[in-house]
Amino acid sequence: MNNFQYYTPTKVVFGRGTEEETGNLVQAYGCRKVLVHYGSGSVKRTGLLERICRSLKEAGIAYTTLGGVVPNPHLSLVYEGIELCKKEGVDFILAVGGGSAIDSAKAIGYGVANKGDVWDFYDRKRQAAACLPIGAVLTIAAAGSEMSDSSVITNEEGWIKRGYSSPYSRPRFAVMNPELTMTLPEYQTMSGCVDIMMHTMERYLNRAENMDLTDGISEHLLRTVMKHAAILLKDPENYESRAEVMWAGSLSHNGLTGCGTDGGDWASHQIEHELGGMFDVAHGAGLAAVWGSWARYVVSERPGRFAKLAVNVMGVADCGDDMQTALKGIEAMEAFYRSINMPASLKELGIDPTDAQMKEMAEKCCFWGRRTVGCIKALQAEDVYKIYQEARVGK
Ligand code: NZQ
Ligand code: ZN
Repeated sequence: MNNFQYYTPTKVVFGRGTEEETGNLVQAYGCRKVLVHYGSGSVKRTGLLERICRSLKEAGIAYTTLGGVVPNPHLSLVYEGIELCKKEGVDFILAVGGGSAIDSAKAIGYGVANKGDVWDFYDRKRQAAACLPIGAVLTIAAAGSEMSDSSVITNEEGWIKRGYSSPYSRPRFAVMNPELTMTLPEYQTMSGCVDIMMHTMERYLNRAENMDLTDGISEHLLRTVMKHAAILLKDPENYESRAEVMWAGSLSHNGLTGCGTDGGDWASHQIEHELGGMFDVAHGAGLAAVWGSWARYVVSERPGRFAKLAVNVMGVADCGDDMQTALKGIEAMEAFYRSINMPASLKELGIDPTDAQMKEMAEKCCFWGRRTVGCIKALQAEDVYKIYQEARVGK
């Protein structure tokens, strides 16, 4: 087991009706003014925004609002949010929504708390030294941003999607009422389930050894999400399944499933982020579309690890040959994606990138030769391009 630090100081307030506690939760930070930041309208349609604002008012908290965050959130709105916060003297940001609203809130928080252009952090030019405190009221189980130290922003200039991680942005609290996720379209629920699984699989598929406990947590988390995704497909208002998936979403990306590993692979995420940047696809669905092609490309480097996933998670019989077992596991995972109406190829995802676009995405993914992606196999732009090619029609 590798050395590790595990510190995840987000207060989780979980269960039915918990959004009513938001005002009191914010009050504990003694802030002057809150920015309530949200997406493209779902929180207005469901009445959640109104309830949150009422809860803030009842707690005597001054606030201003900024909506309009889109999935794969844009840098231009982040700049707008930074200006608004400075003008209004905002010192706490409350995101109401999913990963996109939370990530946009984190980026605004960096922009207010640090001098200079906030994009520098995402562009790896310098490190942030602070972030405004962030709180989250979660409406979709997916990205795990409510407990993670990461945020992912798309710069419309060049459509470059980049993630940035620092402990300053980890939300102070996360309000999670599984009932709030019942209004999600099926596609978003299932896309979220894939993303949750991928946050654990990215960590599970690594080059470390001897992690009985972490592997066991990961395997059970994956089986849990698969079981409840299948239930939600037929019964989207099943509270217990919504709750299992929501909790899995946070545990999948708060560092727990990475304890003792080498940090994991993460190439599938980097490969998908380029799809999100160029084609604006739902993140989880994009991951499902490329994962199988990535897995087949790298499996020979760590067949034992893939075989373990196949046997312990996908229920594949161990045929005594790691490579054969591993390949059956990859097939089984793709079959699972399809069973929950998720794509297992770019075609099924509904996009058909040209050769030039695939080359461009591969170059961007590897920062024009400045980095490789993945640890199972360190991928260069040429490898990433081949994976996009394989993923076009898939298997
Ligand atoms: O914008 P609104 O109108 O709210 O609609 C959203 C959006 O269209 C809708 N939605 C959310 N909750 C709803 C709802 N519709 C009805 N009822 C509800 N209760 O769902 C759509 C997707 O929302 P979004 O916030 O984009 O989803 P998600 O949580 O999947 O976030 C995706 C973003 O997070 C990034 C992704 O790359 C992507 O940009 N990620 C962030 C990570 C992090 N910060 O740690 C890690 C992830 O790997 C991921 O990269
Ligand atoms: Zn993800």
